[in-house]
Amino acid sequence: MCGIAGYIGEEQAREIIIDGLKRLEYRGYDSAGVAIAGDKGLQIRKAVGRIENLEKLMAEEPVSGNLGIGHTRWATHGEPTKVNAHPHTNEDGTIAVVHNGIIENYAELRTWLKDEHGVTFKSETDTEVIAHLIGLMYKGDLLEAVFEAVSKLSGAYAIGVVCADEPDRIVAVRNDAPLIVGLGENCNFLASDIPAMLKYCRSIYFIENCETVLITKDEVTIFNAKREKVKRDIYHVTMDADAAEKGGHDHFMIKEIYEQPQGILKTIERRLDENGRVKLDGIKLTRKELSDIERVYIVACGTAYHAGLIGKYAIERFAGIPVEVDIASEFRYRNPFVNAKTLFICISQSGETLDTLMALREAKKKGARVLSIVNVVGSSVARESDDVFYTWAGPEIAVASTKAFTTQMVCLYLLALYMAAENGTLEEGQFTRVMDELKRTPELIREVLSRENAIKKIAKRIYKNENVFFIGRGLDASIAFEGALKLKEISYIHAFAIAAGELKHGTIALLDMDTLVITLASQTALNDKIVSNIKEVKARGAEVISLAKDGAVKIADESDDVIYIPECIDEVAPILAIVPLQLLAYHIAKLRGCDIDKPKNLAKSVTVE
Ligand code: AGP
Repeated sequence: MCGIAGYIGEEQAREIIIDGLKRLEYRGYDSAGVAIAGDKGLQIRKAVGRIENLEKLMAEEPVSGNLGIGHTRWATHGEPTKVNAHPHTNEDGTIAVVHNGIIENYAELRTWLKDEHGVTFKSETDTEVIAHLIGLMYKGDLLEAVFEAVSKLSGAYAIGVVCADEPDRIVAVRNDAPLIVGLGENCNFLASDIPAMLKYCRSIYFIENCETVLITKDEVTIFNAKREKVKRDIYHVTMDADAAEKGGHDHFMIKEIYEQPQGILKTIERRLDENGRVKLDGIKLTRKELSDIERVYIVACGTAYHAGLIGKYAIERFAGIPVEVDIASEFRYRNPFVNAKTLFICISQSGETLDTLMALREAKKKGARVLSIVNVVGSSVARESDDVFYTWAGPEIAVASTKAFTTQMVCLYLLALYMAAENGTLEEGQFTRVMDELKRTPELIREVLSRENAIKKIAKRIYKNENVFFIGRGLDASIAFEGALKLKEISYIHAFAIAAGELKHGTIALLDMDTLVITLASQTALNDKIVSNIKEVKARGAEVISLAKDGAVKIADESDDVIYIPECIDEVAPILAIVPLQLLAYHIAKLRGCDIDKPKNLAKSVTVE
């Protein structure tokens, strides 16, 4: 998500704004910029990449003034380039705007501004439309111009506006995206979130939806949708800056685990047309091209690879197309059977994993059609793909991938259902059965999260174990692999996953009284099989904790403890089943005093081979 920071007062605005933007880095971004109002009018500085690049630019091309707005951009409309970075201005550069969110009707406004008013656009962004609109409405009163312009916008947005002709005020508007005002001594602040201003003030106003706020250095005036002044209580911030960045959570990982319902909702909602059919925005795969696909290759690393295993099941089950799943670092060296009739799907949260990127290039060289499932707009994998299917999980900061994983699985199900509908391979009622359950997953995951205390209790009991086995069958085997990876990468416990049916082919020799086995048993259709696996494991003296659906009595009878997930269809169970394992890994690592968000030896994006 983007970040906004603004200041008006008696100090130089630039340092305060940059400092505020740095406290918003956790929101994820790929470019940054500032607009400072000084005696030379509005001075705009923008840079791609880290805020340090912007600071370097501002050292080379200094700006000065006591009023300004700044922005860190998480690209949605338009690649992360300097031109697309915020702030955006009107044509004569007298109005500058920073913006969080999406202007849903920006396309028609863009056309109207171009056709009716001859506006020339510099960027691909929706935000630039706002700057031109305000410039058009400006008749000497910035507040009025903003009122008028905003009345033409639809979508979710928070905006900050400054004007060269009125260098003593900031006007800001909130409509769904968060916005707060900080109250200082002879100065005031604007920001998307509390951390940006905690260093300077702890008295704030929360701006509510459809409200506009006029900020001068001595006064803050809030207006409702009817442009009437409203009173607002001052909120006194007590949390420290670190806690504020994590939304009050102790770590980014737990914050992102809790963001999964919202991430799945955003990933699904843009992909259904008015008739409830799947529409793949950003994907140009035509029905004809789809019918020419003879094989699908899914290639990724780590957690993304585990999502690929679920994707194999979904595409084969629904679309009837054979799927190979491969680890990127292996794919590249096995001279794979890839050609123009191959759909190569690469999955990557960061879109910068070098193994995955090199595998993508290998597949392209062999003529494959490349479709990527990525969380970072404009990343290398996204740019080098023929089609991109974004997970709208929002920035994932913790090294351990959680919300990206569940949204990757959702994207793969949507893709499989789309392909099946196009190929006509869906059984009667199958689409509705699966799609309806997929749409229920945010609510089902909220139910899982509400059971966190039960998970904490189990973590307390088992966190001293140094060896933990994860077993499962079918889709549960893939979740067993992901559950083991979560545990090992943040708690440093030796966690080992294996398909339950494979145990007896050697690995079972390791089981004894001290072994803890976590059994994934969410697949109702495989219950009898997994029960016999639990029995064979118990017979060796191991302790068994099973993960099963509410009411799975046979599983419970055979297990020492059970982690329950709400009843759901087998196909969708993996999206739920991973959440208790994420929570379990988190609480075990916390009890073991590990550095949860930045585990030793690991990087969030592995850009080396
Ligand atoms: C998962 O928790 C790990 N951080 C790691 O396995 C990760 O999934 C892998 O490095 C792939 O990263 P990507 O999705 O950004 O390509």
